[in-house]
Amino acid sequence: MAELLSPEALIADLEETLRQRHPKPHPIRQLLLSGRLSKAQLRGWAKNQFHEFRNIHRFFGIRYQKCPIAELRRLLLENMVEEEGEDLFGGKYPSHRDLWVQFAEGLGIAREDILNYEPLPGIRAALEMYVSLVQQSHWAVAIGTGLVFEGGGPKRMREEREALEKYYSWIPSSSLDFFRAHEYHDQGHGDRVTEVIKQHCMEIRLQHEMREAVKQRADIMWLQNDCIYSALVRPSLDSQTVREIEG
Ligand SMILES: [Fe+2]
Repeated sequence: MAELLSPEALIADLEETLRQRHPKPHPIRQLLLSGRLSKAQLRGWAKNQFHEFRNIHRFFGIRYQKCPIAELRRLLLENMVEEEGEDLFGGKYPSHRDLWVQFAEGLGIAREDILNYEPLPGIRAALEMYVSLVQQSHWAVAIGTGLVFEGGGPKRMREEREALEKYYSWIPSSSLDFFRAHEYHDQGHGDRVTEVIKQHCMEIRLQHEMREAVKQRADIMWLQNDCIYSALVRPSLDSQTVREIEG
């Protein structure tokens, strides 16, 4: 049986668990960041990613509903307001769903095409897996799974925006606000997630549950990438590129 870890040791352990689970970026991310996705592939990526971004209320809502601590619920609510549009209370950005639609339009996808797009089966399954994970987890673990997405969020979003600006310069800069909004907000969100884990996962049983949950969340994100990669990208790659990015 594993020992109870101190708050700092637990965070380091979870970060190491994530590094070991997927030591290299997913092949589709390697292609995206090095400017090697075609226009059609980039559009396919955007349309499928949208499924999670338009359904964030499904797992944010569960986290909020489960949380027994009033001060934390306020922070979760603030986070939900950002998702649903901080313009609701005089802020700068509309909903993150709308920001992604603006990005899609910048890629040349018509608004009704992204709104009516049927995601790949695995993309749909991945979202249901994540909603179930959040539903079945202890409330602090449900929030803690945010370590995987929000934890690395600002860095990941900056890398994506910079790659889009550098290699795909045909995309209007005004359509990249989704990335800017997350570069800005997710730093605070990631810190909050870390605090919840440090303060509320101080039992062996919960630390074990937390470790398994971050692995599952990382796998779900990997699966989402895999679905898009296998269906829309890999068939058109030459064997040398496949060896380079999958090896
Ligand atoms: Fe968001």
